[in-house]
Amino acid sequence: MAILETKNLCKIYGNKDTKIEALRNLNISINKGEFVAIIGPSGSGKSTILHLLGGIERPNGGTINVNNIDINTLSDKQLAKYRRTEVGVVFQQLNLMPMLNVKENIELPLMMGEENIDQDYINELINTLGLDKRKNHLPSQLSGGQQQRVAIGRALAAKPSIILADEPTGNLDSKTAQEVMELLKMSSKKFNQTLLVITHDENIAKKADRVIHIVDGEIKKLENNI
Ligand SMILES: Nc1ncnc2c1ncn2[C@@H]1O[C@H](COP(=O)(O)OP(=O)(O)O)[C@@H](O)[C@H]1O
Ligand SMILES: [Mg+2]
Repeated sequence: MAILETKNLCKIYGNKDTKIEALRNLNISINKGEFVAIIGPSGSGKSTILHLLGGIERPNGGTINVNNIDINTLSDKQLAKYRRTEVGVVFQQLNLMPMLNVKENIELPLMMGEENIDQDYINELINTLGLDKRKNHLPSQLSGGQQQRVAIGRALAAKPSIILADEPTGNLDSKTAQEVMELLKMSSKKFNQTLLVITHDENIAKKADRVIHIVDGEIKKLENNI
């Protein structure tokens, strides 16, 4: 069953001379627990998909059903709750807080909700990501791969059912990229989450259950796919 489904999703930026159709009638369907990679050239609309699915921006047309609710019908307040509880986003820019240590950075999204923090889960998450010896370190004291793992931990902190990651290994060397990807895949399986990873790296895409190719805001038709 689809946990996430878009129908004729459209996003337009700018107007008149600056008008860009970032997404044109995008139809994707992702099943619960599935690991899907979205691959495509720069400017093809990959980050736009993530911003719309993550409830960070609203579409100009079409629907996004998550657990059978069209998130575009949510009020701004309901959408904020959706962002906080239903989806975990790993951004291209990590946005780690420099003054907060690893554990505090991971717990940060939970500070904005009213729910109590499940310390056992947070500790398990930190261990799973191999950050147990770095809990009290500041981001500046970590390697690139470790910083990326903190950003992943933060996305998983609220136990969201869907993880959206935008080029989560883009700034890492290929060996570290593979390791971080394995951790992301392993932790999402362990915590029963659906994983959507945007990448332009074929090696990362190979690890996915399924790959969606995007070109110019549309799904590319595969010529050999009979
Ligand atoms: N905030 C924005 N304002 C105007 N144009 C944008 C904005 N965000 C993205 N775009 C444009 O939309 C298109 C798709 O961008 P994006 O989704 O970031 O592509 P990708 O992530 O695949 O590189 C590009 O042409 C980009 O310039
Ligand atoms: Mg992008």
